[in-house]
Amino acid sequence: MSSDPAVENVVILDFGAQYGQLIARRVREAHVFCEILPNDTPAPEIASRNPRGIILTGGPASVYDEGSPRCDPAVFELGVPVLGICYGMQLMSLLLGGDVRRSGKREYGKADLEVLGDAPGREGLFSGVESPTQCWMSHGDSVLTAPGGFVALGRTRNAPFAAIVDPRRRLYGVQFHPEVVHTHRGREILRNFLYRICGCSGTWDMGSFIHNAVPRLGEQMSDGRAICALSGGVDSSVAAVLAHMAIGDRLTCIFVDHGLLRKGEAEQVERTFRERFHINLIHVKAAERFLERLRGVTDPESKRKIIGHEFIRVFEEEAARIEGARYLIQGTLYPDVIESGTRTAAVIKTHHNVGGLPPGMKLKIVEPLRDLFKDEVREVARELGLPEEIAWRQPFPGPGLAIRIIGEVTTEKLDILREADAIVIEEIREAGLYRQIWQSFAVLSSMKSVGVMGDGRTYAYTAILRAVTSDDGMTADWVRLPYDLLERISSRIVNEVKGINRVVYDITSKPPGTIEWE
Ligand code: XMP
Repeated sequence: MSSDPAVENVVILDFGAQYGQLIARRVREAHVFCEILPNDTPAPEIASRNPRGIILTGGPASVYDEGSPRCDPAVFELGVPVLGICYGMQLMSLLLGGDVRRSGKREYGKADLEVLGDAPGREGLFSGVESPTQCWMSHGDSVLTAPGGFVALGRTRNAPFAAIVDPRRRLYGVQFHPEVVHTHRGREILRNFLYRICGCSGTWDMGSFIHNAVPRLGEQMSDGRAICALSGGVDSSVAAVLAHMAIGDRLTCIFVDHGLLRKGEAEQVERTFRERFHINLIHVKAAERFLERLRGVTDPESKRKIIGHEFIRVFEEEAARIEGARYLIQGTLYPDVIESGTRTAAVIKTHHNVGGLPPGMKLKIVEPLRDLFKDEVREVARELGLPEEIAWRQPFPGPGLAIRIIGEVTTEKLDILREADAIVIEEIREAGLYRQIWQSFAVLSSMKSVGVMGDGRTYAYTAILRAVTSDDGMTADWVRLPYDLLERISSRIVNEVKGINRVVYDITSKPPGTIEWE
């Protein structure tokens, strides 16, 4: 929770995994801070956060399902404006005495919303929204009769109460989803709720986040030293710079260079943190140690385990040398906090790289980014002056290039892959596609084939090009890269990288494939 009472806060009660996140994104885009809480958070706990407004999300259940998620009915008595969306509206209607019609099948799709011009509150939620306006419906149950005190604010052909308000209590409900793009004026409707109804002024931005976060980190780490595992990715980098702004030289960053990084990455970390930000940096050059452990290993899971264990051992050894270390800075983001904190979420991600680290050390975990979404972290990175390569770095797995080399990992193969991968990144950047693509990289297969170059026969490795779009890495689709770009990448790799004479493009989505090859 944002510990600064001056920060305007909206509470989102989540009635189904992931429904809250998109709404939260929209609220944050409107420069209002918000938190997602479990649907059954007691009203006093919500009130203690001093929210300007409360949003009840949609969800997959029917209000009539046994054990369907509920909220504390006292939420409607807090004197704070409430917006119920879809399931949230049905639940509010049911709890306040309305008639909700049970339906076996879901209505799903676009609908024209007629905004009822003469209804009280019209100048609030639908201010500036023309009528009719396209909205997106996805619901099973619907409100047949609104509870006492409510009037209709909008209707569709199938839903006489597509939007409702109780102007006295400032309770609003919409049957459609304002958070999705198919609701054409959804952003305005949410903004109207936040600004006109809740009275928010929209002061949350990344400049104010930094302004608040730094003194808070200083208070959290008032004595002793802190350590931070730097990976070169945007999360740990931003966390480190913020912590450094708060406690200066009491911070030491540990960068474990396992020799499985991409071309120029280690140098980038040195340049940025030691030279630009003057942060105490321990650059552990452990490539030989990792390669030694990986010698002869071909099984993907064994590779991952070996690298994970070795990483922790190296980190622990280094951290143990830092006297007076009391804190461990981690780049945990808000989606991870929600995933482990709400009962509605199904998957809990295991933390990569330094997860669970280090059991014997009794370090207090400090998470400077636990209120932020990924794009907000990138924005903070920009504000802090971190280089583009870090602020916009595509995700890179902890085990690094080892899981992009099929079969045994050797220095020779690492060198080959690094060169091929650098060409992929360079060309994708050059084509202006780097930021839109979730990940783009080269994989080195264990397969050799015959080719011809100049007058000579070649017998060399096949490189695999992989480029995918994704929202969260859980599912992915291969990118329809332009043919001329594919051609440039292929021709450059084969001509410039000794050891590769053939390039193929992976056109497998996830599922059934995975993004990485191992
Ligand atoms: P897969 O290959 O499972 O990858 O489709 C999904 C996403 O996770 C990343 N990935 C990892 N990230 N440590 C990490 O930090 C790991 O061990 C790891 N394995 C996969 C992968 O790059 C993709 O973004």
